[in-house]
Amino acid sequence: MPQPPLPYTELLAETLITEEQLQARIAELGAEISRDYAGKDLLLICILRGGVMFLTDLVRHITIPHMMDFMAVSSYGAGARKSSGQVRITMDLSLDIAGRNVVLVEDIVDSGNTIASVLSLLKARNPASLKVCSLLDKPEMRQSEVPIDYTGFSIPNKFVFGYGLDLDEYYRNLPFIGVVDTEKYATPH
Ligand code: IMP
Ligand code: MG
Repeated sequence: MPQPPLPYTELLAETLITEEQLQARIAELGAEISRDYAGKDLLLICILRGGVMFLTDLVRHITIPHMMDFMAVSSYGAGARKSSGQVRITMDLSLDIAGRNVVLVEDIVDSGNTIASVLSLLKARNPASLKVCSLLDKPEMRQSEVPIDYTGFSIPNKFVFGYGLDLDEYYRNLPFIGVVDTEKYATPH
């Protein structure tokens, strides 16, 4: 049985991005996507579970008709907290993406391995176009070069949590992005 973690206030070193900053930037991204896909068929794909808070706020700022779908992936060969080269689909999409304009919605691009692998799996299904929208980008940690078409915030190489990102599956619900206090919580990298 998982043990409930310490209260988040004890694990938080600092708030990196406030709720107000997140919401303001997400409104801009929604407006940008609405402009870019005006008159086109748009399908947003959320990668569970980290992308879910971002997706649900983002779509409230997308003013054009669109669909959404969900998929879950896990890394091969490494513990759940480390990214390996390849991913396996643990929950597949319900919709067929062939011929559709797809935007992948992710919480964070770190090594880039997850997104690179998901992109190659989805490309094989022949979408009309395939773009990436990531709330956070940690460019210092990149191993796989991936194009990020829409970025919320570029952040330093610190382990963050909240707003979809978890600490051992907890605290995804926080409305802001915080930095973990590494003296109180052992981070995966
Ligand atoms: P990748 O290294 O780009 O493949 O990222 C893999 C996954 O690691 C992301 O989708 C996140 O779920 C997770 N991740 C990476 N950095 C962080 C972080 O700072 N906090 C929480 N999860 C993270
Ligand atoms: Mg993730």
